[in-house]
Amino acid sequence: MNDTNTRGVLFVCLGNICRSPLAEGIFIHLARERGVLEKYRVDSAGTGHWHAGSRADPRATEVAARYGIELPSIARQIDPSTDFDSFDHILAMDADNMSNLLHLGAPEDRVRLYRSFDPALASEPDHRLEVPDPYYGPGDGFQRVYDMLTASTIGFLDHLANERG
Ligand code: 4NP
Repeated sequence: MNDTNTRGVLFVCLGNICRSPLAEGIFIHLARERGVLEKYRVDSAGTGHWHAGSRADPRATEVAARYGIELPSIARQIDPSTDFDSFDHILAMDADNMSNLLHLGAPEDRVRLYRSFDPALASEPDHRLEVPDPYYGPGDGFQRVYDMLTASTIGFLDHLANERG
């Protein structure tokens, strides 16, 4: 947990160059629009290490730029020795990310599939709540991921607002 009043929000995918940097950028953008960004410490990480030190994939940067969103992320691998204590919300993009996080020791009550915050998907089972990996996919995969992440972020920000009372 954090020493200050800020809440820690960590987005997690496999490579930390496509989905989680996009989720991070969208969250920062929409939280800023709502005037609540300063309440949060936002970061993203990958369960894998291969892309550590890299900026977001250009296809993610491009779809974000269409909406006036910048992606500040520099990829890094999750660090179980510090991340699980210091982030209040650990948001997994898919079921593999989630199970990897739990195996690494992430506290169950702080890890969730990010799409579970999309109110339109409230009664869907977990396997319908994945953000598909767009890395090897066809061209419009990043737009679909963007749309999913935007709906999830709106729901998540509403959830956070209720959580804070
Ligand atoms: P991400 O996408 O997990 O959304 O960042 C991927 C990026 C790279 C690889 C896999 C997924 N990769 O195998 O290198």
